Amino acid sequence: MLAVAGIELMQKVQTPRDVNLEDKRVLIRVDFNVPMDQEFNISDDTRMREALPTINYCIDQGAKSIILVSHLGRPVGKNPDFSLKHILKRLERLLGKTVVFADDIDSAKSIQATVKNNNIILLENIRFYEGEERNDEALSKELSSLCDVYINDAFGTSHRAHASTYGITRFVPHKVAGLLLKKEIDSFAKAFSNPLKPVLLIVGGSKVSSKLELLNNILDLVDKIIIGGAMSNTFLKALGCEMQKSLVEEDLVGEALKILEHAKEKKVKVYLPVDVVSTDSLNAPKEIKITPVQDVPENFMAVDIGPASTKLFAQVVRDSQTIVWNGPLGVYEVSQFSRGTFNIAHSISDAYAFSLIGGGDTADAIDKAGERDNMSFISTGGGASLELLEGKVLPAFEVLDKR
Ligand code: 3PG
Repeated sequence: MLAVAGIELMQKVQTPRDVNLEDKRVLIRVDFNVPMDQEFNISDDTRMREALPTINYCIDQGAKSIILVSHLGRPVGKNPDFSLKHILKRLERLLGKTVVFADDIDSAKSIQATVKNNNIILLENIRFYEGEERNDEALSKELSSLCDVYINDAFGTSHRAHASTYGITRFVPHKVAGLLLKKEIDSFAKAFSNPLKPVLLIVGGSKVSSKLELLNNILDLVDKIIIGGAMSNTFLKALGCEMQKSLVEEDLVGEALKILEHAKEKKVKVYLPVDVVSTDSLNAPKEIKITPVQDVPENFMAVDIGPASTKLFAQVVRDSQTIVWNGPLGVYEVSQFSRGTFNIAHSISDAYAFSLIGGGDTADAIDKAGERDNMSFISTGGGASLELLEGKVLPAFEVLDKR
């Protein structure tokens, strides 16, 4: 099976344990793209905390210098709002060490030349270099001159073939996966390579279009699929329900039917909502109604799964041994419409199953439901985990040394 073969190939990456780090200059590509408020307070530092084991491992192995390279957001030019200076203090606190900030690659080089052992340098946002996203060869070479060993621990960015995640590997003698990258791919392998069955995929979010590849790829790998969120409206429409003002991708109604037929051929059981919570307005709701999916009131839009669906889905969750979840089941950011998503999070937490949670919105919803500690594994990558579920070999893994 292509997806499993890809995951097994990615699992073969070497890690820092396969190379001698003593007295070496190490460059670690991390993903410190963390959410911040308008005053630059970090609202979730999970990605930084998840990078600590690799950084500490390099320190313990006596690396001469450790330079951390990351992007932050999607800056246009050198916009100071996107400076990694905003995360420096948190990083120092998490590491319990002083970190030297380098404004650019040249200053990183001079810091490296003057420093004592075990020095940690944080390079300014690598996307301030316009060559980063173009995977520019000159920038890749320049970055490579900073290290003897390159470690990629930026799972969240592993689906990007950029200079710091991809191009650089052509010019370094050792290129390995950090401990987070390895942990991520091993968790996906646990869900798909040789999983405990039945395997359940819960898929939600607003658009069928963004999950089409996933749905087409996953049918060989799972036994059951729950579809919720606004994307289920398109499926319900395909089955003849009048969804009124709900978000429906009209052009994908045919595609939705094909997926359902395909699932049937593969004997994959698909569960759709049987009732929905709907409202007259998302931002200023005056009326909220719970109805069977066939009876969404005129001028109303479905915004969450209803209580009967929650019960049905909870039973499906309870009967599964491996659960993969990508995408919320309703507009969970609005408290009145968060119940379906939060209840599914509670059901997964109660299940005796291995639970793998895609990053991004789903991880955020689980945090808000207070269930972070009760999931088996929460990915640090939104886009990256989606591409893995689509059956792709991620570019960053492709270019690392293999066992
Ligand atoms: C993410 O947050 O998904 C990663 O950091 C990648 O960011 P990007 O989508 O801007 O490349």
